[in-house]
Amino acid sequence: MPAELSPIDKAKFVAAKRAVDFVQDGMKLGLGTGSTAAWMVRCLGERIRDEGLRVTGVPTSTRTAELARQVGVTVTSLDDAKWLDLTIDGADEFDANLALIKGGGAALLQEKIVATASDQMIVIADAAKEVAQLGAFPLPVEVIPFGWQTTKALIEETLVAMDVLNRDVTLRMNGDRPLLTDEANYIVDLHLNRIGNARQLALVLNQIPGVVENGLFIDICDMVIIGHGDGRVQVRDINAGTESDERIEFAASDNIFADLGD
Ligand code: A5P
Repeated sequence: MPAELSPIDKAKFVAAKRAVDFVQDGMKLGLGTGSTAAWMVRCLGERIRDEGLRVTGVPTSTRTAELARQVGVTVTSLDDAKWLDLTIDGADEFDANLALIKGGGAALLQEKIVATASDQMIVIADAAKEVAQLGAFPLPVEVIPFGWQTTKALIEETLVAMDVLNRDVTLRMNGDRPLLTDEANYIVDLHLNRIGNARQLALVLNQIPGVVENGLFIDICDMVIIGHGDGRVQVRDINAGTESDERIEFAASDNIFADLGD
């Protein structure tokens, strides 16, 4: 039940709940991945049940696809949908320009393709994700398994000329094996501490053979909805230059809290 949620989960929930207000009947939606996006998918399922909302969702991971089907969202592929009205997704970090680090959940490739194929992207996040400068969260980079050690060495070499504080690069593991993404690639995490020029870094990383995509989302996100543990939400629209402070009440009848998994 909502009363038992931790403050961080409450923050994620209220951000997700507010974001789903932006969904209109008939929309084609990009469905993000991660614990915050999972709340959003649940809230979407609630509106479908309660209001008969008709939407089609393009999930950004097998995890999200499974949850979406469970809660009654009609799921399709991006190739069938072709273009989307709105993507709602979480983030690992966001700055004042709504530049993002994503990929903590290893889904950055599909997330970036889907968000880029959308008229609008809304990021939902708890307040701790807001940073003055990106980089404290390790930057995920998806690489193909073939020759990954060479790719990692090229990334390390490239970082020498970049405005970053640290330069450690690690392969993300799943137990004693490299973690495999939905596209059967590997993830290397760049422990940079501070990224001075995110736009330049994003461009340079993608020039390296073997790099599929990086977790920097620049000029993709239009709005961030920041949730707080006390139910407050800030809705910040980068295009309109507006920010509103609102409050989401937990409804006693909410039944979307059972069996939530990421
Ligand atoms: C998934 O690959 C990520 O981009 C997530 O969107 C990001 O890690 C945020 O996840 P949480 O909502 O679980 O913090």
